[in-house]
Amino acid sequence: MFDSFLGLFKKANAYLGVDIGTTSIKVAELSGSKNNVTLSNYALLESFGHYERANNVIQANSVKISEKETTALLKILLNKVKFKTRLAIASIPPFSSFVTLLELPAMSEEETNKAMAFQIRQSVPLPLAEIAVDWIRVGQRQDENGFEKQQILLIAIPNEVISCYKSIFKNAGLSLRALEIENLAATRALIGNDPVPTLIADIGARSSSVSIVEGGFLKSSVQFDYAGDSLTQAIVKGLGISYRRAEELKKQRGISGGIGEYELSTLEMPFVDVIIKEVMKAKENFEKSYGSSLQRVLLIGGGALLLGLDKYFESKIGIPVVLGNGLLYVNTPPQLSVVAKEIQVRFATAIGLAIKGFL
Ligand SMILES: Nc1ncnc2c1ncn2[C@@H]1O[C@H](COP(=O)(O)OP(=O)(O)OP(=O)(O)O)[C@@H](O)[C@H]1O
Ligand SMILES: [Mg+2]
Repeated sequence: MFDSFLGLFKKANAYLGVDIGTTSIKVAELSGSKNNVTLSNYALLESFGHYERANNVIQANSVKISEKETTALLKILLNKVKFKTRLAIASIPPFSSFVTLLELPAMSEEETNKAMAFQIRQSVPLPLAEIAVDWIRVGQRQDENGFEKQQILLIAIPNEVISCYKSIFKNAGLSLRALEIENLAATRALIGNDPVPTLIADIGARSSSVSIVEGGFLKSSVQFDYAGDSLTQAIVKGLGISYRRAEELKKQRGISGGIGEYELSTLEMPFVDVIIKEVMKAKENFEKSYGSSLQRVLLIGGGALLLGLDKYFESKIGIPVVLGNGLLYVNTPPQLSVVAKEIQVRFATAIGLAIKGFL
């Protein structure tokens, strides 16, 4: 288990949830006790200009997290914002982990344990000695032939990734209490135990991930490389302007396509459509394989803040699409209400990680 070290400590009254993305670090500090937590502080550090300087990417797909640079950035952030606790829970991005939903015949716990030892070797493309493995029973159903099947979510993280995170946190002066995959953390903050079959689309900078949650359990997750930066890059190339200016334009105008925005929309739309197509594919695959219908889509991640995206998305996918609210189960002090929407959408993972500390 990745978090077996969590249980050895006495419960504290504050935790930091630390979400290290490809272009930003988000930290949410929650204070209080189980079932009554308040957002006491938060911080976001963005690393711009990573296209000019390739080594400025905090994390790049299929490339190892840059330990030195991430430590330095985390230190900058911790210097700027004074948090009251050093206890941290961090997330592992989808591209550094293996997540698979397995279906096994319904059987006793002991038999399941034995079967899983075999399944892990089959499903994870790395030697057992090099990975940490966790699995969770997430459901049961009768298949087309009337056989009872149990659904098991298998999660594997390379040891190398875990030691890299441990060392980043130690060197930044934080005490790392647990690691968790991003999708599980976001699910906790956004959905809790709500049983409604839901698709969560996390649209980040470099990559997007789609999680499907049913009965409060994560059932599947896929990721792809189209996200917010795909749109910015299209604007950079199409209009011949700087990356920073393209980011500004994108954030101001969105895809609402008013007068004079035609050109911007034309550049962005092919990438918006690719993202929506990937999400629809994930929805269809899930519904076909597991015979249940998704009821809603929650959009999170910075890319979800694109003006007009939710409405456009809804018109394409045909089920309700709304921005996710990572603060759903968290008290928010009134002075944070102005920035609440951005926190709700961009900090869902960080908040879910911090909530874990109180469980
Ligand atoms: N208001 C906004 N409108 C449109 N896009 C936005 C807005 N705010 C942020 N973004 C975009 O969100 C993206 C960053 O999102 P986020 O912070 O979720 O990424 P990340 O977690 O660092 O990346 P990843 O999840 O790929 O590792 C950027 O592409 C940025 O341009
Ligand atoms: Mg992210």
